[in-house]
Amino acid sequence: MSRYLVTSALPYANGPLHIGHLAGAYLPADIYVRYLRLTGEDVLYVCGSDEHGVPITLRARKEGISPQQVVDKYHGIIKKSFEDFGISFDIYHRTSEKIHHETAQEFFKILYDKKILIEEESEQYYDEEAKMFLADRYITGTCPNCGNENAYGDQCERCGKSLSPRDLINPHSQLSGKPPVLKKTKHWYLPLDKMQKEWLQKWIESKKDEWKINVYGQCKSWLDQGLQPRAVTRDLDWGVKVPLPNTEGKVLYVWFDAPIGYISATKALTKDWKKYWQDKDARLIHFIGKDNIVFHCIIFPAMLKAHGEFIIPENVPANEFLNLEGDKISTSRNYAVWLNEYLEDFPAKKDELRYVLTSIAPETKDSDFSWKDYQARVNNELVATFGNFVNRTLVLTQKYCENKVPQHDKPTDKDEECIVAIKKAKKKISECIEQFRFREALAELIDLSRAGNKYLAETEPWKIANDNLERVNTILYVSLEVVAYLAVLAEPFLPGTSTKILRMLNIQKPEWKNLEGKILVPGNSLGQSELLFPKIEDAEIEKQIQKLHSTKNMSEAKSEIQNPKSEIAGKPEVTYDEFTKMDLRIATILTAERVPQTDKLLKLTLDTGNEHRTVVSGIAKDYEPETIIGQKVLLLANLAPRKIKGIESRGMILMAENSKGELSFVAPTKDSENGSTVK
Ligand code: 2FM
Ligand code: ZN
Repeated sequence: MSRYLVTSALPYANGPLHIGHLAGAYLPADIYVRYLRLTGEDVLYVCGSDEHGVPITLRARKEGISPQQVVDKYHGIIKKSFEDFGISFDIYHRTSEKIHHETAQEFFKILYDKKILIEEESEQYYDEEAKMFLADRYITGTCPNCGNENAYGDQCERCGKSLSPRDLINPHSQLSGKPPVLKKTKHWYLPLDKMQKEWLQKWIESKKDEWKINVYGQCKSWLDQGLQPRAVTRDLDWGVKVPLPNTEGKVLYVWFDAPIGYISATKALTKDWKKYWQDKDARLIHFIGKDNIVFHCIIFPAMLKAHGEFIIPENVPANEFLNLEGDKISTSRNYAVWLNEYLEDFPAKKDELRYVLTSIAPETKDSDFSWKDYQARVNNELVATFGNFVNRTLVLTQKYCENKVPQHDKPTDKDEECIVAIKKAKKKISECIEQFRFREALAELIDLSRAGNKYLAETEPWKIANDNLERVNTILYVSLEVVAYLAVLAEPFLPGTSTKILRMLNIQKPEWKNLEGKILVPGNSLGQSELLFPKIEDAEIEKQIQKLHSTKNMSEAKSEIQNPKSEIAGKPEVTYDEFTKMDLRIATILTAERVPQTDKLLKLTLDTGNEHRTVVSGIAKDYEPETIIGQKVLLLANLAPRKIKGIESRGMILMAENSKGELSFVAPTKDSENGSTVK
């Protein structure tokens, strides 16, 4: 038996949960944990609300309430949705709890006392009007990587690049809208560069064949760029206070305190918490979305190792993103299927949502949820295949066997085939779950019910009922065994359905490891049959599609009012002199190729009239490399050179972005030779 500590990313308490959250970090973890429990492992599953950080304080400003009111409101909504949906945490904690503040402060103090943290004074952006340093999302500007004008101080949401405020071009404060000034301040840094050399690089490389390829690939690319010391404190008044003298107005960086939330949640749950965090045999597994990879695979392990008393993660099976009807899910644009609303509209369809989200889980690449696909999967797979098989078997047993488990005779080849299918399914499902391949595991479950349907169709017990009741009994015994196995194997994926089937069979849940031979005892009475899955009607789906369209239209209208497209919103004035500093030229693309291990970047060679130069551009989502050879482009030629993914990029191609975030080239309408100036 192993001891597991399983975590799901702590969601920010600044909005309700949506299906993207579920598919990314919660459903896969819940399946995994339910499986471990079934197999008799010692497992704790912890989570909680992430209640610090700039997204919370920005939301408080927007809603005109205090950060505490924001987190109280959303922590309540999130916790209730998880409970109603049946995510089986052992504890759902929150980072505003005293025990968490104490744990995070103690952790920081240990790193400080061990002299691991570097103390450094540097110049940081400051809003003179708001009298505040502008950490993370308090500052926006143009992304140096892809040119997105609304990149945040910690990340560009368009190209995914991790940024610090000083990377932004044309930075401005989210508070006053003004350009910030630089002001000196002291912070503490985790020396990731040193740790990379000492052990991190080797440790991550040792995970090459064990971690998912998307996770390993992202880590490798961070390492290849060379890790830098990372600030673990901020000048903010919302968060865990820095536990050192004379540090008024300073808190721990949210990404320092949040993962420690996993530890404080375990502490709040059990006094035996050290068995799960400090015993070298314990296995730590983090379920997260892809935007959290660096924090869980590099920064948190670095913190744990530096502390010295903790184990580090064994695996971090991160998922990619789930889109919705072909568009990005967005809390700020209110474009999502919200879990609390789904549960109000479909209170009896929890397993249906679990089923669909697991079938389309973004395990290796981004995937898409659509309501029509949801309807098709439920109706074709759950209703017509799985539900139909269970229902037919139970109805036939009522009809021919007085609703009792029948006696069985020696099995025929057909019966054996069915029994082999059971064993194969059990083995495959175990293997897939243990390797975090939940889609495949679920497909195997449906395949077993398909095999059951085929068996009934081929043996046709209803045709021989008058002449050979003994054979009918055996066929229905075998079918009922398939149903019983389906009930147990379905538990991690469809817990409500599993309970219902066990009730119909009138048996207790057998343990997975005891699932070797037969489950059912001839002569035992069965319970009452219930309908497992009602068919989803077109009208229900249409209603959801309408709802989505109307919120989308409303949010577009709202954004048009707030940021009229006819004005250049949010940018401060520039002088003509400032404008003329930009060397804008026409160039032609000579070669284009994808930058390996990225999905947004192309490496381009440009003819600028007097030379050939390399530019890395974030346009790979909008253009295939082979289609843009010969394209004339507008180049900002005197942008300071930058290394992007190890390639020196000299200049930036200017692109137009429409309201859907699609990019297109800006090029002259009359013939202009390469090197022509633009003014
Ligand atoms: O991305 C997020 O939503 C973060 N709140 C996740 C934090 S995970 C952990 F480290 F706490
Ligand atoms: Zn960017």
